[in-house]
Amino acid sequence: MTDPRQAAPRRPKEWKDKTMNKMIVAALAVAVIGGAGYFAMVQNEPPGATGPRTVESPPEGASMVKVALPEELSGQAQMGKRAFDAVCAACHGENAAGRNGMGPPLVHKIYEPSHHADAAFLLAVRNGVRAHHWRFGSMPPQDGLTGAEVKSITHYVRELQRANGIE
Ligand code: HEC
Repeated sequence: MTDPRQAAPRRPKEWKDKTMNKMIVAALAVAVIGGAGYFAMVQNEPPGATGPRTVESPPEGASMVKVALPEELSGQAQMGKRAFDAVCAACHGENAAGRNGMGPPLVHKIYEPSHHADAAFLLAVRNGVRAHHWRFGSMPPQDGLTGAEVKSITHYVRELQRANGIE
């Protein structure tokens, strides 16, 4: 038996050109996606293909994304919703859909669990958040919530995220 590597056909002459073309296309794609990501940050558009659809130029205070609601919320998420509505919705909007001019949607690709783990929610509430992803200014610390309440809020947001393809 010959070594299959030796038996492999020689690469046709144009192989190199094709590969170069593919590399150029890939580089362009990266540039376009990177550019889109930047544009997204500036324009409040979600950077990824997943996640809810953006509302086109929402008026001040209006939802920034269209959030699909889960069929039902778990018990913990229902408790979280109550706390969220009382404390967070003023800036993050009803159903965490954002409020233009006040706070970003948490049902958003950038807040997927791999990018903002559950601990990020507790840190945000305890310490506040310095503006870095958006242009709404910083989030002040939110007093008066227990760790358990923040955990419930996080559950609620995760269930909303999952209903919108953000995992
Ligand atoms: C006064 C307005 C305001 C309130 C109230 C508020 N937030 Fe925020 N929050 C913001 C803004 C603005 C940002 C985005 C900062 C940035 O990245 O530019 C933010 C970001 C976050 C983030 C992302 C943190 C990170 O690491 O990037 C989380 C999580 C969060 N908020 C959770 C909450 C929760 C939970 C509540 C309620 C307990 C809450 N927020 C209440 C304004 C607010």
